[in-house]
Amino acid sequence: MDLTTKYLGFLLNSPLVAAASPLTASVDSSKLLEDAGAGAVVLPSLFEEQLISDSIEIDERLNQGTYAYPESLTYLPEIPFASDEAEQYLDLVRKSKEALSIPVIASLNGYTDGGWLRYAKEIEQAGADALELNVYYLATDPDERCESVEKRYLDLIGTVKAAVQIPLAVKVGPYFSAFAHTAQQMKSAGADAFVLFNRFYQPDLDVETLNVTPNLVLSTSEDLRLRLHWVGILFGKLQVDLAISGGVHTHIDVLKSLMAGASVTQFASALLQKGIPLLTKILEELTDWMEAHEYHSIEQMRGSLSQNRVFDPTHFERVNYTRMISAYRR
Ligand SMILES: Cc1cc2nc3c(=O)[nH]c(=O)nc-3n(C[C@H](O)[C@H](O)[C@H](O)COP(=O)(O)O)c2cc1C
Repeated sequence: MDLTTKYLGFLLNSPLVAAASPLTASVDSSKLLEDAGAGAVVLPSLFEEQLISDSIEIDERLNQGTYAYPESLTYLPEIPFASDEAEQYLDLVRKSKEALSIPVIASLNGYTDGGWLRYAKEIEQAGADALELNVYYLATDPDERCESVEKRYLDLIGTVKAAVQIPLAVKVGPYFSAFAHTAQQMKSAGADAFVLFNRFYQPDLDVETLNVTPNLVLSTSEDLRLRLHWVGILFGKLQVDLAISGGVHTHIDVLKSLMAGASVTQFASALLQKGIPLLTKILEELTDWMEAHEYHSIEQMRGSLSQNRVFDPTHFERVNYTRMISAYRR
């Protein structure tokens, strides 16, 4: 059985990838993921806020010195120098790379096109095989136009792409007015792959305490359908790799994702809930299923249920929605 799949220019041993999560924050844990059958690991993100707050702090410290001792101007160290958190992150990249034989994908997470993006280059120099850029931005200002939101994404992607040679995956949320077009523009700006989709954090409201309660809810397989829909639409229309992140919990979820057109499926919630050995179980179930259904390779099934390939492409469009609504019976 050929479970290999091509993603970001690499031939991965399996289509199961460990998503950015605390599970890839230590080399030991990433090694367990590799041994359990992960085709690649995505490290947790280095966040723009970590880098910005560090650089503000550094700036303040330097300025304090400057004001207190004017002569200190002559011996100020050269800015920028690496922050502690960035240094730790680069160390994680280096050590993960040393310990693993599968590709190590580092992750930057932010929303402004600024100086913090210089860490893309440092991450590449630390040895990352590829970079996942997570643009996590919520446009809450009524005066901000969608053109400027989309430009923000394109600028970020362009800046990172210009800084590095390694392949670039872009992870975004689902809330765009014309996602197919925006994805095409993001590809032109430099995205080699899309990771669909971010699960945006949604605060709950406590009606007793009148508080907004921040809590992270892990996904279920129900979250997968939005991803299947969009991967199915984009497959074959844009020459990019597609990864599904969000709601992949079982071997059937993996099969659906591959048939929609994904090259890989990323796992976070399922592994946090059930443990790393789940990957091995899913690989076995995937192999058994493929044998029973006479598939020989992942490549053979990839995209077979995408919009381009299915008998009735309207299943992915509005026309099917109207059919479903009118056919609904209680
Ligand atoms: C505890 C936790 C930490 C996460 N940290 C990151 C992160 O650092 N960067 C990132 O891009 N995504 C992060 N994610 C999102 C996951 O990579 C993934 O996209 C999301 O959880 C949906 O996949 P799932 O349904 O398999 O959980 C995190 C998710 C969880 C649950």
